[in-house]
Amino acid sequence: MSALPIIGEPERRSGTLRGTAPRAPLPAALLRGAVLADVPALERLMGPYVETGDLLPRSNYDLCRHIKEWVVAEAAGEIVACGSLKIYSQELAELAGLAVLPDWQGAGLGRALLEALVREARSHGLTEVLALTRKPAFFLKLGFAPAEREHFPLKVWADCAKCPRQNWCDEVAVVLRL
Ligand SMILES: CC(C)(COP(=O)(O)OP(=O)(O)OC[C@H]1O[C@@H](n2cnc3c(N)ncnc32)[C@H](O)[C@@H]1OP(=O)(O)O)[C@@H](O)C(=O)NCCC(=O)NCCS
Repeated sequence: MSALPIIGEPERRSGTLRGTAPRAPLPAALLRGAVLADVPALERLMGPYVETGDLLPRSNYDLCRHIKEWVVAEAAGEIVACGSLKIYSQELAELAGLAVLPDWQGAGLGRALLEALVREARSHGLTEVLALTRKPAFFLKLGFAPAEREHFPLKVWADCAKCPRQNWCDEVAVVLRL
């Protein structure tokens, strides 16, 4: 994915942060495809959300192995947000690992990443993007609809089967039909 300016674009739907700066003025953020050198920053960014159970743990091996699935937002040399698109079939992908640094939350970065990953899904000709999340309201706001997780056996086989929380999972399935 090529670098995409988040600040300075004409309207918010295309990624601008204009008018939404949360506290002090923030440096501009760019969206770009992740590279291997970003892996330590991805681990630091997601770590606290893994601890709270909002994100699934990802090993260093898994991040390196699938680095091409990840998009990051970079500001002043720091990775401030990330997300990934995991393709399961010609029809289905999962939006996963969406995380924004606390100081950057509420500024449109989560939306910008989600929209960039959905654009990428469309460019592959996919027809459904799934997310399993404890923050369904965020996804519902951005066009996803509630779904039954049993509708997505590929995802369940791939990740849920090896998840330590599989028997007390509180994640909700949401889907966007493209
Ligand atoms: C969830 C998360 C990615 C949202 O990112 P963000 O950059 O703060 O969200 P944005 O500023 O782009 O918000 C976009 C819209 O969603 C809304 N929104 C954001 N978080 C929300 C939430 N938890 N519940 C409901 N709506 C939410 C915003 O109000 C905004 O709506 P608006 O455009 O009408 O003002 C971020 O809070 C985060 O990293 N959380 C911790 C990790 C996590 O839970 N990830 C999701 C797991 S799948």
